[in-house]
Amino acid sequence: MTISPADLQIRTIESLEERRQAFALFRQAMLGIGDIGRTDPDAEARYLGDGQLFGAFDGTVLLGTVNGFDSGIAVPGGKRLRHLGVTHVGVAPQATRRGVARQLLVTQLRHARAAGYAVAGLRASDARIYERYGYGVASWSVRHELDLTRTELAVGTPREELRPVDATESFPLFRRIVDSEPSPRAATVTRWDGWWTIQAFRTRHGALPHHAVVYGAEGSERGYLRFHTEASDNWFTSQSRTIIVDDLVAHDGEAWRALIGHLFAQDILHRAIFPSRPVDDPLPLLLKDPRALTVSGLRDESWVRPLDLETLLAARPLAHGRPVVIEVQDPILPENSGRWLLGDGHPARSNRPADARLAIGDLGALIFGAYTPAALDAAGRLQGASAETIAALEDLLHVDRKPHSGITF
Ligand SMILES: CC(C)(COP(=O)(O)OP(=O)(O)OC[C@H]1O[C@@H](n2cnc3c(N)ncnc32)[C@H](O)[C@@H]1OP(=O)(O)O)[C@@H](O)C(=O)NCCC(=O)NCCS
Repeated sequence: MTISPADLQIRTIESLEERRQAFALFRQAMLGIGDIGRTDPDAEARYLGDGQLFGAFDGTVLLGTVNGFDSGIAVPGGKRLRHLGVTHVGVAPQATRRGVARQLLVTQLRHARAAGYAVAGLRASDARIYERYGYGVASWSVRHELDLTRTELAVGTPREELRPVDATESFPLFRRIVDSEPSPRAATVTRWDGWWTIQAFRTRHGALPHHAVVYGAEGSERGYLRFHTEASDNWFTSQSRTIIVDDLVAHDGEAWRALIGHLFAQDILHRAIFPSRPVDDPLPLLLKDPRALTVSGLRDESWVRPLDLETLLAARPLAHGRPVVIEVQDPILPENSGRWLLGDGHPARSNRPADARLAIGDLGALIFGAYTPAALDAAGRLQGASAETIAALEDLLHVDRKPHSGITF
């Protein structure tokens, strides 16, 4: 039975004590999330201090929570928009399926729009939860497993400007590098203080050795690779010494080739695992034997929710193409509903008949370039579109690189 809004109080959570309580509720709901506060209460306080938390209370009892972190997100073309990084969605096991999450998530979306965020984004524990709130999949990712013993690089990679750095102490440098990326892929998320706090915590307190290397002249570095070793009973005699990449940032092809080359330069290694890479990652092209690379684990990565559609559309450059009018219905944020003209200067509201209709979540996915209009049409998600409309949308919304963020939160 749904709990009526009158019985449930949704309010912001400000005090550190209540923040810790809400985080504990989230961990209780998720089961697989470690308690950083037990190891490092100060790191937990710094992490939680950044959040825009809501709680759902029945009297004084906390039944559910949702958090949001102030950040940015890149759209195709590289422009960054204000983005609320939504996380810590959790409802007490005894209170699920009574509408608690719905009330929290809807309240959060309305507040975020009113506060000037253009987009909300999250990573989903279950792909069936968020579409109903207007989220859509804005990027996909794959897992790469590279057998370093089976192949050589197809080209020489630059080594002169590679520099190993302390993986635990160099976070200010990593942050400077990632924040100065000149042309980020669409869906790249600007990482906030609390996100870095968690990375530093894991690196400092993880049981396995962490390593890092940067590329570029000192003071103007253009990339870095952070990784840790996989657990091994006997690293000395192991035939499958493996590293797991935690973060790979490269501003350009040269930096990327140099960082991959660094893995090949270490004779001790047999295998490298990249848990999250873009679906169009060029790594096979860098290998003499592309079959040394196993690509697997295709999964949804970024879920985005347009909050201010006008701002989002205006930030995303459109290529040349016949103008198209799309119609969208947004029951949660009706300000976004209506007909929008794309491809004739600044995207604007239109009174012309719609050429195609689609859900707000699918429109978000389309704007980020996760799907082509033809794919959405084939799946029955682009309604009423003629072949000419689909062709025009393909022209307008073309992307040269698939969206990808590479981080979880
Ligand atoms: C996911 C979770 C937050 C949903 O909370 P809830 O209060 O039960 O959700 P609601 O009652 O508001 O249900 C919202 C809707 O989503 C559906 N739904 C919720 N969780 C779902 C799931 N895991 N799979 C499929 N459908 C789900 C419900 O059936 C409901 O549908 P309806 O609106 O058509 O009736 C809760 O189950 C939970 O805490 N799960 C464990 C932690 C977790 O996975 N958090 C998400 C992290 S990204």
